[in-house]
Amino acid sequence: MILASASASAKTILFGEHAVVYDMPAIAIPLSTLRAYARIEQDLDAAGLIIEAPDIFFSMPFSEMEEIHPIGAAISLFYKTFGRNLPANHRLSIHSDIPIASGLGSGAAVSISIFRAFSMLESIELSASQLSRLAFEIEKIHHGTPSGIDNTVIAYEKPIWFIRERECTQLQCRYPFHFLIANSGIPSSTAIPVRDVRALWMQNPKSIQALFEAIGAITHQGIGALDQGNASELGKLMTLNHEILRELTVSSERLDEMVCRAIAAGAYGAKMTGGGRGGNVLILAEPDQMPTIISNLKEMGVNQYFQTALVPQTSNESGT
Ligand code: MEV
Repeated sequence: MILASASASAKTILFGEHAVVYDMPAIAIPLSTLRAYARIEQDLDAAGLIIEAPDIFFSMPFSEMEEIHPIGAAISLFYKTFGRNLPANHRLSIHSDIPIASGLGSGAAVSISIFRAFSMLESIELSASQLSRLAFEIEKIHHGTPSGIDNTVIAYEKPIWFIRERECTQLQCRYPFHFLIANSGIPSSTAIPVRDVRALWMQNPKSIQALFEAIGAITHQGIGALDQGNASELGKLMTLNHEILRELTVSSERLDEMVCRAIAAGAYGAKMTGGGRGGNVLILAEPDQMPTIISNLKEMGVNQYFQTALVPQTSNESGT
């Protein structure tokens, strides 16, 4: 019998990854049609709580999971936070449509779907801000120094302007923008590029700080382009942001080629998104340009695509 089921969206970063770890602003967008799902069922044959993720052939009793396993850690954190006893004779099943290690926030989405499912099971109401804070703790296991942007945009499931520990504002879009997300097919770990950027920054603080600030300035200009509905300007800024991420050593030849091919095929602009080195490229283009871009990327063996749009919204919400 299914007792609780919940989901959480993927995300993409429009501007500011990496620099956001160093207090620069960033803009992130939820990808609501790409989701992670958690479902809790009663299972009278299970002695305790069984965790399974059939997509990755994972099945294990909670009691045997390592403390630092992100799924086990999320469940422990939930029950510790709310002072309840872990349920026995239950089965948690996790399924995700979000490609793993692709810069689309699959880790935070899985954590948030788990928190939502257990809060439903225990009849505990969780606000977006509580969810985000819980998921932030698990993000620290995924990579030591998260900015918090992934857990925040996924918990609120709204486009956000974000500054670490300071500001999170829902973006009001007055004009539609259309994006293509293309998967390089190379895994992106987040932890490794984040660690490498930190090493670069420690070796050369002045010049790396200047790159972070240049990304911060681009993000500020990005808000202006969004406000004015200026896709051509927004695209140029995305490509500029990509160039700086390249200087930070978090791009790769394949990502760079994808960006070049997208622009050559008529995109306004493109950039890697998320931790980098692999994962996805975010491309801004008119909808009628997408087929040409896709066929140009297919020539280099890029076969996984996803389309999304930023569309005008009416509601207003902010918080951290
Ligand atoms: C990961 O989605 C974005 C990074 O900026 C890391 C972070 O903000 O925690 C690379």
